[in-house]
Amino acid sequence: MKLSTRVTVLATMLVAPMLGGLGYAALRARRADLEADLSREAREVAEALRAGIEPLSAETAVPTLTERAWRAREHDDAFQLEILRAPDRDGRSWQTSDPGWLVLLQAAEQDDGPVSRFFERADGSRAFAMAVPLYDEAHLALPRQHPARRPVAVLGMKRSTDYIGRAVRATALRTFPLFLAVVVFLAVGVLLALRNGVTAPLKRLLEGIDEVAKGDLSRVLLAEREDDIGTIANRFNAMTGALREAREEMDRHANARLAMETRLRQSEKLATIGQMAAEIAHEVGTPLNVIGGRARALEKKASDPAELSKNVQKNVEIIQAQVARITKIITQVLDFSRKRGPTVTRVDLARVVGEALDVVGETIRRQGIATEVRTPTALGPVPGDPDQIQQVCLNLLMNAIHAMPAGAGGRLRVTIESVTRRKEGLDRAPATTYAHLQICDNGAGIPAPAVQDIFEPFFTTKDEGQGTGLGLTVSHGIVKDHDGWIEVQSPPQGEPNGTSFSVFLPIEAPALAPAGAIGKA
Ligand SMILES: Nc1ncnc2c1ncn2[C@@H]1O[C@H](COP(=O)(O)OP(=O)(O)O)[C@@H](O)[C@H]1O
Ligand SMILES: [Mg+2]
Repeated sequence: MKLSTRVTVLATMLVAPMLGGLGYAALRARRADLEADLSREAREVAEALRAGIEPLSAETAVPTLTERAWRAREHDDAFQLEILRAPDRDGRSWQTSDPGWLVLLQAAEQDDGPVSRFFERADGSRAFAMAVPLYDEAHLALPRQHPARRPVAVLGMKRSTDYIGRAVRATALRTFPLFLAVVVFLAVGVLLALRNGVTAPLKRLLEGIDEVAKGDLSRVLLAEREDDIGTIANRFNAMTGALREAREEMDRHANARLAMETRLRQSEKLATIGQMAAEIAHEVGTPLNVIGGRARALEKKASDPAELSKNVQKNVEIIQAQVARITKIITQVLDFSRKRGPTVTRVDLARVVGEALDVVGETIRRQGIATEVRTPTALGPVPGDPDQIQQVCLNLLMNAIHAMPAGAGGRLRVTIESVTRRKEGLDRAPATTYAHLQICDNGAGIPAPAVQDIFEPFFTTKDEGQGTGLGLTVSHGIVKDHDGWIEVQSPPQGEPNGTSFSVFLPIEAPALAPAGAIGKA
């Protein structure tokens, strides 16, 4: 049952009997008033009777009283008369045998005046009776309560009090609707007051709590109220306020961290480009040499128009091809160095790995590293940021290349496959399908104690200008943002030396962060 209903029922249950009791008391008072009126009236009638009859002589008593009684019946008077005692012709006294009357009769004789009472009839109705003693001349002369003073006869006056019962019932019937109206009015009033004062604000409070539970902390509830509910609401508001501040603080921290990570990633990119500078110069140098050679050849033939026309076509094609190669190299470097906002798309991991291999392709060739690339024909797309994933690939590839001494016939194995696994530390989570990118080299390897440190910022074993110690830090952050993780094995399983880096990225991300949110996790 609702609170308002319960309180209303309780209030009605308390007040209705009280009102009923008051009503009953009022009705009883009314009955008592009416009965008192009746007694008074009876006394007046008795006085009038006595005034008309007394002094009453023993001889005329019976006919006088009989005549009076008969007249009262004839006129249908309010009070009917009955002879209770009278002297008969022999001078002896006759009296009624009705025990009720006898009691009254004796009381009247004793009291030396009229005595009345109310009584219940056998049929349950109430009636009023009065015994009126009547005196003759001699007795009237005696003072009241004189022991010798005795009435000649006693007359009974009787009246049904049904009319009192009817009047009381009529009053009850008249007041009952009022009573009902008061109870209903009270119940409705209490209900409305509770609805407005308690139920409605409580409902608003509950709605507010639900909103807060859903994450909306901007609500301020019932601040205008100054009662108990207002106090609760104010405490609640203070709590949401504190939560809001905490959340804003957290957001600020997250944003600061995000900004810092973005800067870190960008500077790591630039450092990578710096490290590649020599190789880029080398890569651009070769086609430039070719272009220069072809241009000189054309210059030599310039004096001989026949030779020139023969060679122009071929040389121009070669020059164009070399320019295209330079353009491609520069585009790749520019592409990589360009700072872009994080975007989430469906990344074709094999393509991204292929592009990263292209960037370091010339170096691999020059160092005589044998490369083996294994990619599955069908692998679902990885939700993520292609630039960031490419940065990870490039980091790992460059680390692998750096670990292998130049010209010593290194072996680089790049494998992509799909695996179904549980994320480490989430033993109860359902197994998920991940893309597994493995970059495996047979280089110097990582000494066991150093494996702990390689993801630490600025941890590097390379010479100044060769390494920044940020590559793996940044890679780790990026992969984590993609809900994945990195594993290291040095040496890889079943190999005498070298290192294997494994990157796991979820293929289907059921609860993918909204576009642009990668990096915020
Ligand atoms: N494939 C690898 N083989 C051997 N050592 C590696 C390999 N990858 C990373 N390392 C070690 O981890 C360190 C940190 O790598 P990284 O964070 O990329 O920074 P940097 O390459 O600038 O040194 C490297 O200096 C190196 O000692
Ligand atoms: Mg590195």
